[in-house]
Amino acid sequence: MKSFTIRTKSVEESRIVCRAGILRTTLVRALADYREVFFFSDRNVWELYGRKIGRAYRNSPVHIMPAGEAHKTPETLFKLLAAMAEAQLHRGACLVCLGGGVVGDVGGLAAALYMRGIDCIQIPTTLLAQVDSSVGGKTAVDFAGVKNLIGAFRQPRYVFADPTFFATLPPREVRCGLGEIVKHGALHAPLFDMLWENRGRLTDGDFLAAIVPENIAFKAEVVRQDADEKGLRKCLNLGHTTAHAFELTDGKLSHGEYVLVGMIFEAELAKKFAGGDAAYLDDLEDLCRIALGSVPALPPAREAARLARLDKKNAVSDEVVLTVPVRKGEYKLLSLGFDVYAAELERIQRALTEGGAAC
Ligand SMILES: NC(=O)c1ccc[n+]([C@@H]2O[C@H](COP(=O)([O-])OP(=O)(O)OC[C@H]3O[C@@H](n4cnc5c(N)ncnc54)[C@H](O)[C@@H]3O)[C@@H](O)[C@H]2O)c1
Ligand SMILES: [Zn+2]
Repeated sequence: MKSFTIRTKSVEESRIVCRAGILRTTLVRALADYREVFFFSDRNVWELYGRKIGRAYRNSPVHIMPAGEAHKTPETLFKLLAAMAEAQLHRGACLVCLGGGVVGDVGGLAAALYMRGIDCIQIPTTLLAQVDSSVGGKTAVDFAGVKNLIGAFRQPRYVFADPTFFATLPPREVRCGLGEIVKHGALHAPLFDMLWENRGRLTDGDFLAAIVPENIAFKAEVVRQDADEKGLRKCLNLGHTTAHAFELTDGKLSHGEYVLVGMIFEAELAKKFAGGDAAYLDDLEDLCRIALGSVPALPPAREAARLARLDKKNAVSDEVVLTVPVRKGEYKLLSLGFDVYAAELERIQRALTEGGAAC
């Protein structure tokens, strides 16, 4: 078992525990502190794991949302809040979110809003949710066609990460989590070495169980230093500007797959514009290709660049700002004019296609 504590100046304490068999042991002990407990999950996850909730809590109220990003909406959030009100939860209650990043984001926001905030326990069941979304206290729903437009920062009381959930995870969801894992590797040299040495078994259950705590420890440290995303935490955007550009254009791959693609493109940009170490960046690109498995088809890069330009988050005047990998464990902020960025994305896409590689 491994555990971490995030304590910052501005947020309440959040404890993260990684171990197998969490539902019957650790969760039951943590819930002993609460007189009222409310469970929130999605249909897929509840069908697989609902009956495994400890005997003492089987009669607690439960609210189940339909699975998937399409339901990460204010409507789902308010249905959950209504169910919590109907159950007459008090301020001392605990909301337990069992599911992937969607359940965690919606449930985390409901816990932040209900009576101005009640305790929340996150039990992430996807690889992405364990290494990324459950750690750090960002909660949100999508609104007005914009992802995560309505949200709040609020740390969960506990995060319980259990690798046995991966046994039922579709391969695509594993690849999705690998996107954020390789991104962490690009920011943290010891993690990169672990990934590189084990590149032949990236999807192996034992390897994932071993690498999850390393990822959580890394993200927890970044959050501890910058919980409100004023500075350091922005490093977690590595690869994401280009990832979002492709994601907005066709949305056929999962977010993590776009992150892997985004890192390949941004590693190429780093070689040309940020003085990046070419040998290391080649290895990083290889790691991304291995994690992607088969070669994904992408929409035209120029269209993606056009959408990146419309994304206000990326734009400072007429430039796109990227967090790019440069050397092992090092990143840089790179600003490129939009025209240069668009032309470069096209050039890289052409080169990758001609080389028979990804994209
Ligand atoms: N809050 C943050 O800091 C943060 C960070 C990254 C991503 N996110 C958010 O996370 C969301 C994506 O999360 P996700 O990738 O976990 O997607 P998800 O929650 O939609 O889960 C993916 C699918 O896997 C199913 N599933 C979950 N656990 C399973 C299991 N153990 N076995 C079988 N099926 C299972 C779900 O029902 C769903 O169909 C996005 O909305 C994204 O914005 C948030
Ligand atoms: Zn991401």
